[in-house]
Amino acid sequence: MTSTFLPQLTVVVPTYNEKGNVRPMVELLGKTLDGLNWEVVFVDDDSPDGTAREVRAVARENPRVRVLHRIGRRGLSGACIEGALSSVAPVIAVIDADLQHDETLLAGMFRALEDDPELDLVIGSRNVEDGSAGSGLTAMRKWGSDRANGLARKMLKITASDPMSGFFMIRRTAFNQVALDLQKQGFKILADMLSASRGRWKIKELPYTFRERHSGDSKMDGTTTLEFLGLLISRLTGGLLPIRFVLFLMVGMSGVVVQLAVVRLALAAPGVTFFWAQIAGVFVAMTSNFILNNRLTYRDRTLKGREFLRGLLSFYAVCSLGAIANVGAAEAVFRVLPNWAMASFVGAVMGALWNFWASLLVTWRAR
Ligand code: GDD
Ligand code: MN
Repeated sequence: MTSTFLPQLTVVVPTYNEKGNVRPMVELLGKTLDGLNWEVVFVDDDSPDGTAREVRAVARENPRVRVLHRIGRRGLSGACIEGALSSVAPVIAVIDADLQHDETLLAGMFRALEDDPELDLVIGSRNVEDGSAGSGLTAMRKWGSDRANGLARKMLKITASDPMSGFFMIRRTAFNQVALDLQKQGFKILADMLSASRGRWKIKELPYTFRERHSGDSKMDGTTTLEFLGLLISRLTGGLLPIRFVLFLMVGMSGVVVQLAVVRLALAAPGVTFFWAQIAGVFVAMTSNFILNNRLTYRDRTLKGREFLRGLLSFYAVCSLGAIANVGAAEAVFRVLPNWAMASFVGAVMGALWNFWASLLVTWRAR
């Protein structure tokens, strides 16, 4: 084996339903990276449109192309992490498949890392001079994106101007420092990496204009925004609470509101006693918690059809045992330390922990 087989640069491209963008992407990479020893790895989460199959077809014609076909998993951040870890190159880039990021920037990013050995990370940025969101974002997305940017920079103490960017190039040594710390769930791997780097990195930002999507649809939605809030809170706790648990707690809090509303409504009906109103409230709240967790907290393994029903029943069972754990723990604390608020709070924490772990292992167990 000669060193010419070793790539200097691995370009990681996360894909979900991006079949129509694979070929154009590889062609554009070839043009801009001409002269470099590069490879591209498409990390596909078993897209229903057959993106992985398409990548294999292209790879048979071009040895620079690889596929990492993930089964039973979903998530942009996790895909980028695994793609980076699958490479031996000293430099890794991440770029979206839909041609919204200006790939011609890659050559300049690579040169910047070559020229300055101290440099750890180069970000393709929409918020520095000459960079812009262009026409690639709707007015509402642009507004939301700006708010999220401000929030992340404040809360995560990030100085880079566009931590929401999904377009960057990083030295492997830097990536390895934080790889174990990163959250696999969520959309914002750059913000997570910057936060995990705790200001240790030398960073450069290069401007570019965000383009229109080439083919297919965006996967960004309300859920990704909540996931992002989860990431912020998770980072504030120093990573102690994973994103999933933060989302689970958010859903749990919504359940309290639902329960109170149902009890209030039920009591308004003639002849309904508090006992039955409370039972109705608990059941509706458990059901809405299940539906929300299924869509949000466990969006990477959403249960459908018969699985949905099985999941709902097991979730009822899990929550009933959680209630027992809750009362038991509160009792035990109260006996030692007769402070009702403290005892009740400990009970609630125990109940939440039980519900989280048990539902993770039973209701939404990974297959
Ligand atoms: N493997 C995998 N799994 N890939 C995914 C998943 C997933 O669950 N979800 C999305 N992707 C891929 C898409 O196929 C695409 O290549 C890329 O990730 C970005 O997804 P889009 O749906 O196109 O996101 P966007 O255009 O709304 O937002 C992008 O650009 C923003 C601005 O730079 C993302 O990169 C954002 O993180 C970024 O802030
Ligand atoms: Mn996009």
